[in-house]
Amino acid sequence: MPTLSDLNGRTAVVTGAASGIGAALAIELSAQGMNLVIGDIDGDGVNALASRLRESGARCLPMQVDMSDPGAVQAFADAAFAEFGSVELLCNNAGVLLFGKVADASLGDWQWLSAVNVQGLLNSLHSFLPRMRAQDGWKHIVNTASTHAFLDNPQGSALYTASKQAIVGITTGLRYELASEGVLVTLLCPGQVSTRILDSQRNRPSQFGPRAAEPFGTGVIPFGITPDEVAKIAVAGILAESPIVFALEESTREHFRSQVRNAWQEADHALASPIGV
Ligand SMILES: NC(=O)c1ccc[n+]([C@@H]2O[C@H](COP(=O)([O-])OP(=O)(O)OC[C@H]3O[C@@H](n4cnc5c(N)ncnc54)[C@H](O)[C@@H]3O)[C@@H](O)[C@H]2O)c1
Repeated sequence: MPTLSDLNGRTAVVTGAASGIGAALAIELSAQGMNLVIGDIDGDGVNALASRLRESGARCLPMQVDMSDPGAVQAFADAAFAEFGSVELLCNNAGVLLFGKVADASLGDWQWLSAVNVQGLLNSLHSFLPRMRAQDGWKHIVNTASTHAFLDNPQGSALYTASKQAIVGITTGLRYELASEGVLVTLLCPGQVSTRILDSQRNRPSQFGPRAAEPFGTGVIPFGITPDEVAKIAVAGILAESPIVFALEESTREHFRSQVRNAWQEADHALASPIGV
């Protein structure tokens, strides 16, 4: 297993790094001596973070990138490999949230959520993975899903939950596919984290139609753990080579565990019946 000192001098890519968990991950990884390639649709945000990281001595390449655009992601990966020669840690963190009912959502709502959360992850894997596979040495991919992917009743968040369940499926499959090549894969599932995720539509491109109403407002989540805490838990999970890392408030852990049990009990109950109902 790698240790903290093994991160020193290696290169990490973090997507969605202008804000919240992505910014905290970039700060934590650069504090461990990693070179950083940080991408976000918010170009000013990643440029500001890059200035801050460079002030503390880090090597950092910021880039404005829309993860839903395959060509832009390819250019992002090309720039990363041109600058640093290799990428040892790929953190696919960029993501957007939208609450609301499936039946009331517009096609644009669904297209936007899936374009960023699902297609964005696939674009990243398509552009970074072939060159990472060809490298020798330690390599690790971290894909950010959410505890929402495991809820027993995702009413009000079904579309977001579905996009995060896709990430669970892709990540689990990828982990087994790449195990024999020594590429490690971790699924990061934060619970409630105090970020600007409720205001995800600040970055909703106009081609996906008008903003949907946000039932919980658009402020920073006023509770939950901090992005810094998530970043520290994620790094611990990377070093422990954990397949799944949950980053949530201790006080919510048992409630969440019971929701996961309920979700699987329904399937278990149906499986126990000979006709599967
Ligand atoms: N905050 C939470 O409670 C929570 C819980 C579980 C999972 N997550 C996940 O954590 C990840 C980070 O979210 P956060 O809470 O830090 O939110 P955030 O809104 O603070 O940060 C998300 C970042 O993604 C960027 N982004 C949005 N669309 C993009 C695109 N098309 N291309 C590139 N970048 C884009 C945004 O500009 C922003 O900087 C997301 O995948 C989110 O689903 C968050």
